[in-house]
This record gives sequence, C-alpha cells and structure tokens, in this order.
Amino acid sequence: MKKYNSISVVGTQWGDEGKGKVTNYLAQEADYVVRHQGGNNAGHSIKIGETRYALHLIPSAIFDPSVKNVIANGVVIDVSGMMLELDLLAKQDITDYQLFVSDRAHIVFPYHALLDGMQEAFRQGRKIGTTKRGIGPAYMDKADRSGIRVVDLYEEDLLPKLIRDNVFFKNKTLDYMEAEGIDIRAEYEDAMQKVKNKSEEQYNKLLGMLDENNRIDEEWVLNLAREYAAFLKPFVTDTSVMVYEALEAGEKVLFEGAQGVLLCIDHGTYPFVTSSSPTSSSIPVNVGLPMWAVTKSLGVVKAYSTRVGTGGFPSEFDDEVAHGIRERGNEYGTTTGRLRRVGWFDAVLIRHAARVSGLTHITVTLLDVLSTIDTIKICVDYEVNGEVISHVPAGETDFNNAKPVYIELPGWDEDITNVKTFEELPVNAQNYLRKIEETTGVKVGQFSVGPERSQTIDLVDWFE
Ligand code: IMP
Repeated sequence: MKKYNSISVVGTQWGDEGKGKVTNYLAQEADYVVRHQGGNNAGHSIKIGETRYALHLIPSAIFDPSVKNVIANGVVIDVSGMMLELDLLAKQDITDYQLFVSDRAHIVFPYHALLDGMQEAFRQGRKIGTTKRGIGPAYMDKADRSGIRVVDLYEEDLLPKLIRDNVFFKNKTLDYMEAEGIDIRAEYEDAMQKVKNKSEEQYNKLLGMLDENNRIDEEWVLNLAREYAAFLKPFVTDTSVMVYEALEAGEKVLFEGAQGVLLCIDHGTYPFVTSSSPTSSSIPVNVGLPMWAVTKSLGVVKAYSTRVGTGGFPSEFDDEVAHGIRERGNEYGTTTGRLRRVGWFDAVLIRHAARVSGLTHITVTLLDVLSTIDTIKICVDYEVNGEVISHVPAGETDFNNAKPVYIELPGWDEDITNVKTFEELPVNAQNYLRKIEETTGVKVGQFSVGPERSQTIDLVDWFE
C-alpha cells in the first residue's frame, strides 16, 4: 500500500468541536483542501486578521490562491447557496481562488429545501431538527437513483426528462401534503427565509418555483438547471482523477470534514443525524480514491462535551461548574444563540469515533476553558440496565438511559492561554491530556488553548 501525504480532519462529537479552526490552521500547509460530504448545512466561521468569514459549502482554503479547493462527489451542492456564498466572499475581496467541483456531485434544488421543511412539519414528536437546507431530500434522491448530478446539467436531451420525473413525483407528494392540511406556499417561504436574509433578490427569484396552484413548475426548474450549468461550468472537473493524481505525485491533501461522527447516518445517534457519513473511512468513496487515501486521521474533540437540542447525552451535568464552562467556552449557538448543553469528556464516544472513523490522532480544543475547576471528570464507561458497557449502545432508549462511569482527576488553577509547549502546561493539565490518550486509545497530536492560530500547539508533524 502506498503512503500518501494526506490528513483528514473530522469532528468526533456532535459538531461545534472547533473543526473550522483546526482545518484552517492545517490548510496553511496543504496543496489541496477537499470537502467530501454534506453540503451547505455545515457552518465554519473563520477569522483571518480582524475579518470574520462564514463558509458553508466552500472549502476552508478559499482565502489562499495557491491552494486548490475541491468539492468532491460525496457533497450535495446547493448551487443557489453557492452563488450567494461566493458573492459574499467577493464583497469581502476574496476573488482570487482555485475552486473545483466534481462532475459526479449531486445538486440540491430549491424543492429539496421545501420537502425538508415539510417532512419535519409532519414528524410527530420526533423532529430531527434539520437545517432545512434540503440536504436529506437531496441524498434521498441520490439513493433513489433519481438525483441530478452536475454532469447531467450538460445533457441536452436527458436533462428535461430527468427534471420531468423529479417534478412529477415531488408534485404528487405536494398533493398528499396539501390534503393533510399543509400550506405549501407558507412552507416554501419559510424554507427560503435563509436566502431572504442574505439576498431579497435571490429570494424573490426562487419563489418563482411554485406556480399559481402551489405546485413545482417544471419549466422553471429546467431554466434554473440551465443557469446552474452555466455558473458551474468553470469549476467542473473529474475531481476523483484530480485528487488521485495529486496524491500519487506526493502533494499535500487535506480532507475537510463537516458535522461530526455522532451525526453519521450509519454510526451516529440515529435518527438524530445528518444524511451522509462524516467519517474518515467514508473518504475513499466520497472522493473516488483508494481505501488507503487517508494517511493521518485527526479527530477534533473538545476538552469537555457539548450538545445542542434534544437527544441522549450521558455525561451531561448542570451545576455551577457546568455554567462556568458554558460562560468561559462561550457555549451558545453561533447563529441561533441557543445555549449548548455541557458534559464531561466522554471517552466512550471518542473510542466509538476512533473505531468507526479510524483516528490516528486527536486534537483537544478549548483546554483553557477547564482552568480553575477543582476536580475534572472523564466518562470511561456506561452503565446500561445495571450492566457496565464500554461502547455506545445502538438503541435510543439505552443511550438515553446510559449512566456515566467516571474517573476523577485534580484540576489546575493557572491561566494556560499563553502556553506554547506541552511541557509548559501545569502538571495536572499534562496528566489530563495523558489520561485522554489512555482512555480513548488515541494519541493527542495537538491541543489548543484559545481561538488564535498561535494558541495551537502541535505534538506531531502533520504533513511529511
Ligand atoms: P441536516 O444535515 O440538515 O439534515 O440536519 C440533521 C442534523 O444534523 C440536525 O441535528 C442538524 O442540526 C445537524 N447538523 C447538520 N450539519 C451540522 C453541522 O455542520 N454542525 C452541527 N450540526 C449539524
């Protein structure tokens, strides 16, 4: 097996682990940054100098003209969202970049966002809380073999037929939804609110998808698809061949994960998951590469745990210490302001992520937030129905009822935000990182003690 010069960065919890910062830090050394799954449901906030940039679909090296940014076949592309994202970057003077889009990636159409919202409206008491961007319905079409890929946009004869089939079945669903009392237009306007917040013009245009009977207008979708084709043209290529040749030539490739392993469609806390697999092990399929494509697999973990919204969370606690962590870690949702639930570091979850995703290293973020806590806990096992287990149970009820089995470690009082090496850490913080390694079985390759790039400490060399 050939050894390539590649690193994958994945989130190992429920997102919000600080992946954006780690990816952006490692991207400085990369020749390629490749997005391999998800779509514009992801959100990376990146600070460069004093400017903050919001990325959803576009890879994190878009700011560096020397790096090739790739959107691979495993991604679903909301082209209207992509236009808005690039427009916004242009307004922030980011116009000089290299961007490539896979000809095999699937397209998210505005009707996918409409269906996403309506499906959520139908779910009785078990709402997933999706981002309503149409990601799930687009992956449904892909699995159903009715999806429209980038390359299909250039098929003169085939495209109208593909669109006809899609619109026909979607309109049948709308008939059914309307009969059940759903207000289609109101749902669509709601689904498009995120667009409205960014561009009134784009919003008004996309509203044209529904005809006077509130059904999807086939001709309108065909015209939109032709616009998408023209817009994407300069970026489209066979990215599988491109990235494979780069790896073979020894170039440095960084695979940029979105979401987190616990949101994996197969290995996450189903059904409260996304519709793709945010694992390193999915990269060969999602990019079109040999199974040994990933040399180093870096899992990003917080020094504690957080989760937004509902769902099982065995190591959750809610006392003065948890409130302190929330304040110091600013654990409030970036867009919604919703407070994040707080828990101790859960080694069971990280062992799960290490197994299903394959982690060679972890990076521990937000270590500074734990300063001033007397006793720090690590969850090492769960107790489920009176039995101690060391893995994540598949069943929702078992996971909800899992009681944490903790070990306790003494904390530290020192401010560690200026630490530059492992040795400069207080001995109890060093022991905490060592204990994380011991309980997860994965080497700590990096830790961070603050939001700046300079507050990231490497314990290994990433690219060779
Ligand atoms: P969807 O991906 O929009 O279908 O949403 C499914 C679930 O994944 C919801 O709980 C979302 O909040 C969550 N989710 C999707 N993308 C992200 C992300 O980038 N970070 C954190 N959570 C996400």
